[in-house]
Amino acid sequence: MSTIPLDIRRLTYADLPQVIAIERRAFPTPWSLAMFVLELSKGDGVCLAARRDEQLVGYVICSRYDDAWHIMNVAVDPARRREGIARSLLGELIARLGEDARITLEVRPTNRPGIALYESFGFLAAGLRARYYQDNGEDALIMWRTPATLTGSLDDVPNPAPPGAS
Ligand SMILES: CC(C)(COP(=O)(O)OP(=O)(O)OC[C@H]1O[C@@H](n2cnc3c(N)ncnc32)[C@H](O)[C@@H]1OP(=O)(O)O)[C@@H](O)C(=O)NCCC(=O)NCCS
Repeated sequence: MSTIPLDIRRLTYADLPQVIAIERRAFPTPWSLAMFVLELSKGDGVCLAARRDEQLVGYVICSRYDDAWHIMNVAVDPARRREGIARSLLGELIARLGEDARITLEVRPTNRPGIALYESFGFLAAGLRARYYQDNGEDALIMWRTPATLTGSLDDVPNPAPPGAS
């Protein structure tokens, strides 16, 4: 675990070469440069980069859709995992969006690190999106963090259908 402090700031276009280098090692079907450019160009999203010792070590991309925020992408340099970097990024994101913000995301049901990370912030599984991932046809787990999920309920989540419930 490094003792060098983490610096979290808005992600900029100049960060994208370092982002792409992490992205390619983090995902089986990485985002293209154009996808990051599109998200940054939206203007009303919140995109953050974590740096340690001047090196970009992780990022989060979050877009706004109507009254909800959508976490589109989160990744940490594989060499710097389990150092609390994703926890710091999500903590800063939620601080900027506001504690009552309604936030959703999709994650692979097989992604145990990702699901554990989101659950630790009060996200709850609220449904499945069938055959969402094109590389292997895997469903996506839909997760939400809302005022209700923070009390363990899905009452304010649209069309909740948590996996395992009948
Ligand atoms: C998921 C990911 C972003 C976590 O980043 P990280 O910086 O290593 O995570 P942190 O060190 O901040 O961990 C925060 C919490 O997440 C959970 N977690 C992270 N990695 C985990 C793992 N390998 N196994 C189980 N839980 C894990 C734990 O609850 C952890 O808290 P703890 O360390 O106190 O137990 C990182 O593994 C990653 O980039 N994975 C590939 C990309 C990805 O899957 N992104 C999410 C897609 S939706």
